[in-house]
Amino acid sequence: MCGIVGYIGEKQAYPILINGLYRLEYRGYDSAGITLVNETIKSYKQKGKVSVLEDFVSGKDIKGHVGIAHTRWATHGEPNNVNAHPHLSNSEKLAIVHNGIIENYDTLKKELINRGYTFHSETDTEVLINLIEDIKTKEKVDLIEAVRIALQSVIGAYAIVIASEEYPDMLIAARKGSPLVVGVGKENDFYLASDATPIIQYTDEVVYLEDEEIAILKKGEILQIKNIKNKTINPYVQKLSISLDALEKQGYEHFMLKEIYEQVNSIKDSMRGRLNPENWNIMLGGIVDYELRLMNAKRLIIVACGTSFHAGLVGEYLFEELARIPVEVEYASEFRYRKPILTEDDTVIAISQSGETADTLAAIQIAKEKGAKVLGICNVVGSSISRETHAGVFTHAGPEIGVASTKAFTAQVTVLTLMALRIAKMKGSIIASHYQQIVHELYEIPNKIEEALKTDKLIVEISEKFKNAHNFLYLGRGINFPVALEGALKLKEISYIHAEGYPAAEMKHGPIALIDENMPTVVISTNKTIYDKVMSNIQEVKARKGVIIAIVSSGDNQISESADYVIEVPHTQEILDPLVNTIPLQLLSYHIAVMRGCDVDRPRNLAKSVTVE
Ligand code: F6R
Repeated sequence: MCGIVGYIGEKQAYPILINGLYRLEYRGYDSAGITLVNETIKSYKQKGKVSVLEDFVSGKDIKGHVGIAHTRWATHGEPNNVNAHPHLSNSEKLAIVHNGIIENYDTLKKELINRGYTFHSETDTEVLINLIEDIKTKEKVDLIEAVRIALQSVIGAYAIVIASEEYPDMLIAARKGSPLVVGVGKENDFYLASDATPIIQYTDEVVYLEDEEIAILKKGEILQIKNIKNKTINPYVQKLSISLDALEKQGYEHFMLKEIYEQVNSIKDSMRGRLNPENWNIMLGGIVDYELRLMNAKRLIIVACGTSFHAGLVGEYLFEELARIPVEVEYASEFRYRKPILTEDDTVIAISQSGETADTLAAIQIAKEKGAKVLGICNVVGSSISRETHAGVFTHAGPEIGVASTKAFTAQVTVLTLMALRIAKMKGSIIASHYQQIVHELYEIPNKIEEALKTDKLIVEISEKFKNAHNFLYLGRGINFPVALEGALKLKEISYIHAEGYPAAEMKHGPIALIDENMPTVVISTNKTIYDKVMSNIQEVKARKGVIIAIVSSGDNQISESADYVIEVPHTQEILDPLVNTIPLQLLSYHIAVMRGCDVDRPRNLAKSVTVE
């Protein structure tokens, strides 16, 4: 999704801005631009990568202590130099960068055209900056007031930063529904960004703007915040806990590979301080006040998107099997528009790595409006979802930069497992010895992941064989069905190979027609309880000349005999299978994508956090 960077202070703004744009590349974008204020406003914009913008700017005037910059992920209008941000007002004295969507931009645009304004781009953003200019001129108010009035007539979501030639020592920022962080610098300066990644190398003191807040950043002055109703707000300064190291590749070729390998430790971090190996007790401080509610819940509703949705599906098996609580798992984007039946007795769990996914946020709002309590499972501390939910548990997986989610998934599943086990124990729905076995095994999972990562070399060989396939089928049963969905999603998003995840037994109701010697079928076949059934599904594929790549538990001999390629992973409790089985699937998609020459960390058309619906 679009990214914002801003700087105001004594340093030269350009290096900070361009650096910040590089840091934001992981979010996904199609064009980039920078505006610098130095007596006059200078804007440079280019379609394509940040490096294209950097080449374009080379040799041009980049002086200035104030500036704003943007990576754009097209919503209104195709990716090109004109639609790229920043956008200037008709007088060319105001510049804006914007994330989000102004839904009533068409009406506002018509009114402005009637008042003599002209538009160069197809964007909603250009409408907003001209609306501000028009109000400023018409109402004879200062820029801050013009922004405040303009935002009152805007419907939609925005994170904006405005620079002005008339006020060269000031930036104005505001947000609603789209995140914006102010970094309070150590040298009388301020940084702005859509997430903390461009800020962390300069300061660890940040203020997360709340909806409808306007920040006024003036050189050498303290940060001022007011809301659009003109109420003064005291800035709440927080410490950032992420380290700069976590934002670097540290010798790995891609962030995705680094993050796959990080899972040995990220899962430990998700469990740290929560699972006590001395008495095997689980303690989840963030939801302590909601444990009784969960224990007595008649049902749980999980809402999420993409990979987080797949983690939610794993959560369904966990809560139903261990805590005996019925669970419904919903795509947040569907949930929000289908008049869900919720009461005050309901508890909703929202899962999100970024904590900024617009559909998940909207689902949370709806659940809250209906009186339900909402718990969050988020990775990004300070994110909108972590703040909008009544309580929650952070996954503590560390920053996930690769667009394809890997360590966030296993961290989400780890947290769901801890939650389900904790509630199961409180409720008495699990016998003590079984609880002990699972908890002990969960504690051992990082070691098992380390083992599973050793399949890497074999997976490179398998990837070589199948890198040119046009279609893949992923099959799994029981708790391995969501793993199949996740494996297919990983492959399609980074290698652009069509892949489908299916419950293995459903295959005969349709997808079996696709099977031939050209379509590899990945079967996640570590199930203990329905081993024979999975075996039969494999035979059905083999009988149609299908090629089987099987993920099996180490020591398996039956399925291994039937499969064409066998990837052995360490044994674990079946309920914990997803944590181990996901690893080879992540590696398979990674290697195939690399072999196909795909941009693994920045797959086409994708955004890391989807802040528009
Ligand atoms: C897939 C992927 C996406 C996200 C989805 C939800 O690899 O990254 O499918 O899982 O956009 O994002 P979050 O978890 O940030 O809400």
